Amino acid sequence: MTSLTAISGCPRAVTAEWSDGEAGLGRMDGWEDRAQSWIRWARTPNFDAYWLYRETFFSEVVPPPGRATLEVGCGEGRVARDLVERGHSVTAVDPSPTLLQAARAVDPSSTYQLARAERLPFADAAFDLVVAYNSLMDVDEMPQAVAEAARVLAPQGRLAVCVTHPVSDAGDFVGPEVEAPFQIAGSYLGRRRFTGHFERAGLAMDFDGWCFDLETYSRALEACGLGIELLREPPPSGDRQPRRRRIPNFLMFRARRLGV
Ligand SMILES: C[S@@+](CC[C@H](N)C(=O)[O-])C[C@H]1O[C@@H](n2cnc3c(N)ncnc32)[C@H](O)[C@@H]1O
Repeated sequence: MTSLTAISGCPRAVTAEWSDGEAGLGRMDGWEDRAQSWIRWARTPNFDAYWLYRETFFSEVVPPPGRATLEVGCGEGRVARDLVERGHSVTAVDPSPTLLQAARAVDPSSTYQLARAERLPFADAAFDLVVAYNSLMDVDEMPQAVAEAARVLAPQGRLAVCVTHPVSDAGDFVGPEVEAPFQIAGSYLGRRRFTGHFERAGLAMDFDGWCFDLETYSRALEACGLGIELLREPPPSGDRQPRRRRIPNFLMFRARRLGV
């Protein structure tokens, strides 16, 4: 899966493993254990892929600020801070107390709350924008997280999502060269587990999560009356990751309630 190349931005994968089906499932509570590593990783400027892709997300996928914006899976808060910078009034949730504390410490203007995306502690229609940036692949029950996002969205609200790209998640480049073939060794279809350990420039990070095909995301949206109104498979900015101009690293989309 991508989660790795995508999130880490060409790191060195020390170990990476994909497994089919439901084997080895467990709650994804690991983020609290690796919170300090993630804070270092995410707060090192221009270190991971976030810095290469965020401009597309904020300029093309995120709508103009409204009354209230919710971010689900905020981590140490860099996406929330970027939303605040663009005029959004932000509430953000994450299940890791350490990450939330780090987020609060540098952004006193937003509300950071301990919660899981699958069970949001907010009233129906409380937000006009829900943002899920690289978190839907990390929650245990992705369709339930999408359903909760739909529940807390106002009728005209929008769900803005970035996930690791389902095609990229399904395979890998067979070599380091720019034109190296991209190979899908297992299956593109279905839900698969990803775990990996990455190291680069003295920083190390463990990732685990899920890989979903495009239909699985679409079905999760359809089940709660949402449909995709805009979709992007952006190239990285600048000249880093040139082969990511052939196979996209991320999938970004914006969804809204159908028939409203
Ligand atoms: C890759 S990090 C992304 C953090 C942030 N959105 C960013 O882009 O910097 C994934 C985040 O999802 C959070 N997460 C994991 N399971 C979750 C769940 N069930 N509900 C909400 N967030 C969850 C993790 O704690 C972690 O902070």
